[in-house]
Amino acid sequence: MAHGAARMGARMIISIDGPAGSGKSTAARKLAAKLGIPYLDTGAMYRAIAFAATECGTDFRDPAAITAVAKRCAIELDCGPTHTRVTLDGRDVSEAIRSMAVSQVTSHVARVQDVRDMLVEKQRSIGRRLKSLVTEGRDQGSVVFTDADVKIILDASVDKRAKRRFQELEADGEEASIEIIIENLQERDETDRKQWTPLLESGAAVLIDTTNMSIHEVVERLLSEVRKRGLIE
Ligand code: DC
Repeated sequence: MAHGAARMGARMIISIDGPAGSGKSTAARKLAAKLGIPYLDTGAMYRAIAFAATECGTDFRDPAAITAVAKRCAIELDCGPTHTRVTLDGRDVSEAIRSMAVSQVTSHVARVQDVRDMLVEKQRSIGRRLKSLVTEGRDQGSVVFTDADVKIILDASVDKRAKRRFQELEADGEEASIEIIIENLQERDETDRKQWTPLLESGAAVLIDTTNMSIHEVVERLLSEVRKRGLIE
């Protein structure tokens, strides 16, 4: 059952950042459903641009070419409390953007500052329109919604994160190797972690290590953080 916003009409922004495989997508989606507010999957935006770049054979090592693709394509997100549908130039690409091939190109896309600037603006504009949301990514509490009411960083050991990624890919029928997944995770970890170190050092964000937690426990912990700030009963 949805908890709903405690204060009628009150704005509630909850940011959930963390490395790949920390469990943030599932946790963010479930938290949004419990609160009855929309869920914004910002990784889906980077993925949609990567998908478009792959389709038109763009050299994903060329930042200017990636930026041109990002400027050209129209990405729309339908953010519900239990789902996100992603359309690219009117085409539903929600499933297509999850492949391992797209994930690899996405990490190049995410390094292009011009693309980041465009997407940050788009995310803020979605935030202004929705008012309340659970937003998930790498930079949501540190860059995009610096005024979020609750800032969470989810983390887990690299082995646990690799295992989760492996299971997700297997469930999608993708060929995967645990060693390659660990390599990919470690490659991004250092850059990602720099984004939220200041938030943790200043105490602006709460760190939750999900290595030994079930998804139910993670969601309960998130709800308790929201409750602590008087945003729900
Ligand atoms: O969370 P995800 O796996 O869907 O993210 C896909 C990629 O986009 C991953 O390489 C991290 C990057 N990303 C980012 O740099 N900033 C965000 N706000 C969201 C995702």
